[in-house]
Amino acid sequence: MYIGLQHLHSGLAYLVLAALTIVFIYALVGALSKREFTEKDRKIALIAFVLSHIQLLVGLILYFVSPVGFSLLSAAAMKDPVARLTALEHPLINIIAIVVITIGYSRAKKPGSPIAKFRSIYMFYAIGLVLILSRIPWSSWLG
Ligand code: HEM
Repeated sequence: MYIGLQHLHSGLAYLVLAALTIVFIYALVGALSKREFTEKDRKIALIAFVLSHIQLLVGLILYFVSPVGFSLLSAAAMKDPVARLTALEHPLINIIAIVVITIGYSRAKKPGSPIAKFRSIYMFYAIGLVLILSRIPWSSWLG
């Protein structure tokens, strides 16, 4: 189960990062072109939203079965940057990032001008993306 979840989480990470980047650019172009915010635009933003929530669920389960997740959480691990990353920083910052993405998507669903909706998507998704990128265990992922 652990290996399967680890592979799923690792593979989904590509999709989440690609979707957030594409939707960010798409919403920025939408805002700059000053066009209407349509149902299609909402659905495109929804794809990145759903993918990041699936990743959150997989990540939460993984956290409790991984040898470098919850089981590593201790005062001693906090002194080791590698252990601190997967046991605390990566999960915590990613949960915050997904909350930020959720706020951006929810704001775009509320009544408002098209530019405000596009801005809500590109600003909040960009913040979420930067937070996620700041705490990826790059060396274990791509190393
Ligand atoms: C969009 C959000 C997230 C992304 C893009 C992401 C991405 C990644 C990546 C690329 C890795 C390295 C995988 C590897 O070494 O093959 C990883 C590892 C890990 N992630 Fe996430 N993650 C996210 C959210 C979360 C959340 C919310 C949690 C927990 C609450 C979590 C828990 C973990 C754990 C425990 C590991 C280490 C797994 C292991 O090697 O045993 N992740 N994540």
